[in-house]
Amino acid sequence: MCNDINILAIESSCDETAAAVIRNGREVRSNIISSQIALHTLYGGVVPEIASRKHIERINQTIEEALEEAGATLEEMDAIAVTYGPGLVGALLVGVAEAKAIAYGAKKPLVGVHHIEGHISANYIENKDLEPPFMCLVVSGGHTHLVNVKDYGTYEILGKTRDDAAGEAFDKVARAIGLGYPGGPKIEKKAKEGDPFAISFPRAKVADGPYDFSFSGLKSAVLNYINGCKMKNEEINDANIAASFQQAVSDVLVEHGIRAAKEHNVKKFAIAGGVAANATLREALKSACEKEGIRFYHPSPIFCTDNAAMIGVAGYYEYLAGTRSGWDLNAIPNLKLGER
Ligand code: KG4
Ligand code: ZN
Repeated sequence: MCNDINILAIESSCDETAAAVIRNGREVRSNIISSQIALHTLYGGVVPEIASRKHIERINQTIEEALEEAGATLEEMDAIAVTYGPGLVGALLVGVAEAKAIAYGAKKPLVGVHHIEGHISANYIENKDLEPPFMCLVVSGGHTHLVNVKDYGTYEILGKTRDDAAGEAFDKVARAIGLGYPGGPKIEKKAKEGDPFAISFPRAKVADGPYDFSFSGLKSAVLNYINGCKMKNEEINDANIAASFQQAVSDVLVEHGIRAAKEHNVKKFAIAGGVAANATLREALKSACEKEGIRFYHPSPIFCTDNAAMIGVAGYYEYLAGTRSGWDLNAIPNLKLGER
């Protein structure tokens, strides 16, 4: 008899339709991502209605591909895991409805997964030795959270953004300098040609939240700088703006993250979410961790941005903990981490 636990995972919270098969929590048997980025690029950002429609068109095929690539059948699956929040409600609903239909039809347990828990769990895929407790900086297009991961499924949120998420700031600044969507990778590329110390952008502190972040002031500072250049008829150096902005974001994230790890005496530090794919941020965190004797973990870029493998990993640990969702599982666009 086979004791393996296989999870079929589905993710559709934003603009990627994704499905994956995960064996025993950390082995990715398949990870299929049908990206809508090219489509949303036409509009300069994600259009929720279009995202939902595309999910509907693509989800069946994406799941079939995930099973096929894994060489697996639905029968072999022990549970169906699905992101049910946070995210775009229409987009989430497509995945949730699909997962419910599959689970009901195939008589499999259904496990609703928190999207951020998925991002954090992406670290388990390639770091087989990583186990809680550890500190995790989650930086995506919708979230910037500093999370003390106390155990599987047990999270203490130490800090979060008061306004824009880090990825959102990347996207807005990219738009301001005409780089388009998605901003993060485009800023990163542009920044390679620039001087990160050419322009002094603010590193915001939040008075009553030692680990909280604020990026809207930084975004405004970039916009003001661009307007100032235009008014003075000065040349606008996009590469210097991109590099200096990226440096400012990275400095704040590293300072808060390392301080949190030290003050909580946590010796392991991980990063997650789309912005965690940024090489400048990774390098800065890596060397700050080395200096402090903290072990640094990060997923490969493919597991940083939205994918279903991470949902399968989180789903596995939820499944082991006994989490089972009912047929009334609903999409919750503002689901809080640690809530059910
Ligand atoms: O985690 P993710 O795929 O989706 C959300 O859950 O939000 O993150 C997407 C965000 C976008 O804002 C994108 O610009 C940013 O991650 N991003 C990056 C990089 N790659 C993606 N930001 C900085 N550098 C990157 N290389
Ligand atoms: Zn995400």
